[in-house]
Amino acid sequence: MIHSVILLLSVIILKCTPKECYFSAEQKRELRCTGLNTTYTKSTIFATLKKDKAQPKGVNSLWIEKSNISNISLKSTDLPQLTWLHLANVNISLSSDDYFKEFPQLLYLDIISSKIEDLPKGIFGNFKSLEVLALSRNLLKVINPDLFQNLRLLRTLRLYDNKLNTIENGFLKPLKKLKRLYLQENEITIISSIAFTGLNSLLELWLANNKIERLWSSTFVHLMQLQELHLEGNLIDDIHQSAFKGLNSLDMLQLASNKIQVILPNTFVDLIQLKELDLTGNLLEDIDSNAFVGLKKLKSLYLDYNKLKTVSAKALEKLGELVHLKLTGNNIERLEKDTFAQLKKLFTLDLSINKIHELPTKVFFSNNQVYRLYLTSNKIAAIPENLFSDKNELSYLYLKNNKISEIEYNSVKNLRQLISIDLSYNELKTFNGSVFANSFGMQSIQLENNYISNLSLTDFKQFNKLDTVDIKDNPLPHEIVEEFEKKYYGI
Ligand SMILES: *[C@@H]1O[C@H](CO)[C@@H](O)[C@H](O)[C@H]1NC(C)=O
Ligand SMILES: *[C@@H]1O[C@H](CO)[C@@H](O)[C@H](O)[C@H]1NC(C)=O
Ligand SMILES: *[C@@H]1O[C@H](CO)[C@@H](O)[C@H](O)[C@H]1NC(C)=O
Ligand SMILES: *[C@@H]1O[C@H](CO)[C@@H](O)[C@H](O)[C@H]1NC(C)=O
Ligand SMILES: *[C@@H]1O[C@H](CO)[C@@H](O)[C@H](O)[C@H]1NC(C)=O
Ligand SMILES: *[C@@H]1O[C@H](CO)[C@@H](O)[C@H](O)[C@H]1NC(C)=O
Repeated sequence: MIHSVILLLSVIILKCTPKECYFSAEQKRELRCTGLNTTYTKSTIFATLKKDKAQPKGVNSLWIEKSNISNISLKSTDLPQLTWLHLANVNISLSSDDYFKEFPQLLYLDIISSKIEDLPKGIFGNFKSLEVLALSRNLLKVINPDLFQNLRLLRTLRLYDNKLNTIENGFLKPLKKLKRLYLQENEITIISSIAFTGLNSLLELWLANNKIERLWSSTFVHLMQLQELHLEGNLIDDIHQSAFKGLNSLDMLQLASNKIQVILPNTFVDLIQLKELDLTGNLLEDIDSNAFVGLKKLKSLYLDYNKLKTVSAKALEKLGELVHLKLTGNNIERLEKDTFAQLKKLFTLDLSINKIHELPTKVFFSNNQVYRLYLTSNKIAAIPENLFSDKNELSYLYLKNNKISEIEYNSVKNLRQLISIDLSYNELKTFNGSVFANSFGMQSIQLENNYISNLSLTDFKQFNKLDTVDIKDNPLPHEIVEEFEKKYYGI
């Protein structure tokens, strides 16, 4: 029923789309057509060339969309310089090996969004120089091991959004020059090193949003050049200690939105070039002291939305180059004084949406480079003295939605570079602008939704750059609110 409705709709779409070709740019190199059928393809193209006084040999790119073309019915002599053929939303029957035989010179071929379920194994046999092949958004389930046999120069292969359930049958093996492989949004359950044998030039591998459950030992061991590995949105709950063996060039590893509970010691030990590791949205409860051994160049570590109760200083101390650390949305209750002690280059630290009720004194004492500190939505009741050293560079401090009832001069006097502080949704009964007397560059103070009942404009006059003071939703007398509104922006 649904199928026949879809068929009917596509019949209507194909019938109703106006038959038309046009040049997409001044140079008359790229010809775009919609609503063609097999009989009229050639005549429509040549009518357009004639109308626009364009030469067939000037056309290097042909787009055919929303068309019913069982046969492209063009000869190689018709558009002799054609290097890019783009077919999208077309009704084609790719049952013959000869479909593209008139275009051996193509460099780029796209056949996308065209409900292709199957491809005859010789259909790409004629291409000598194809560099980019896109078969995305079709219904491919299995790819014949010989399909890409002759595509020795292929650099990019897009197979995303199909129904592939296996990549283990050797169809990738001939692609010695492949640099980018897009396999996301398929139904792949198993990957092993067999699939990637021979892909010695691969730089990017996209396997996101599949159904992979396990990463076995040495899966990626042949991918010596690989720089980006995307495994987000799978069902991974088991990572072998040697799963990432050999990935000495890897720059970014995406493992977000999986079911990872444990990272074994030394799992990332070969990733000596890794700059970014994303473990957002997994099930980690704690992190082994040796989980991050080897990540000497790591700059960004994302551990948001896991189940972490603590953060091990021992685990973090291996990450001397870390610049961005995100721990949002965990169950962290306590920080130790030395938790971040070795992260001397840290620039952003996000601890929002946790259960931290107390900040140990000096907890950020070695983190002099921290520029933005997010502590939003915790249970912090007080800012202790000596949180930061007097060499700190902190500019943005987010303390929204905590339990702070008082700010004392001594606890913030070191924050000389502070530009913005968010204290909204706390329990402040009083607030004296002068506590930030040392933060000369202060631009924004957010006090929305506290219990402040009196506020003196005089105490804010010392800040030359202050332009925003948000005092919404406090039990303040009308006159005071008006006074502040005249001088500062709210939010
Ligand atoms: C598409 O083309 C085929 C064969 O060329 C033809 O039988 C069919 O009716 C066409 N469909 C539409 C909607 O024009
Ligand atoms: C698609 O092409 C096939 C074979 O050429 C034809 O039978 C069918 O009617 C076409 N479908 C549409 C929607 O045009
Ligand atoms: C192709 O399109 C033309 C005009 O759009 C139409 O007259 C002709 O019947 C179509 N041929 C097929 C096979 O659908
Ligand atoms: C396409 O049509 C041409 C003639 O119009 C024919 O020679 C060729 O064999 C056809 N190709 C396929 C794949 O049907
Ligand atoms: C705020 O603190 C300053 C400096 O300690 C003090 O001079 C001033 O009176 C205080 N303001 C209020 C309203 O208490
Ligand atoms: C608010 O503070 C000022 C001094 O800054 C004081 O004169 C005034 O009485 C206070 N108002 C209330 C209601 O406490």
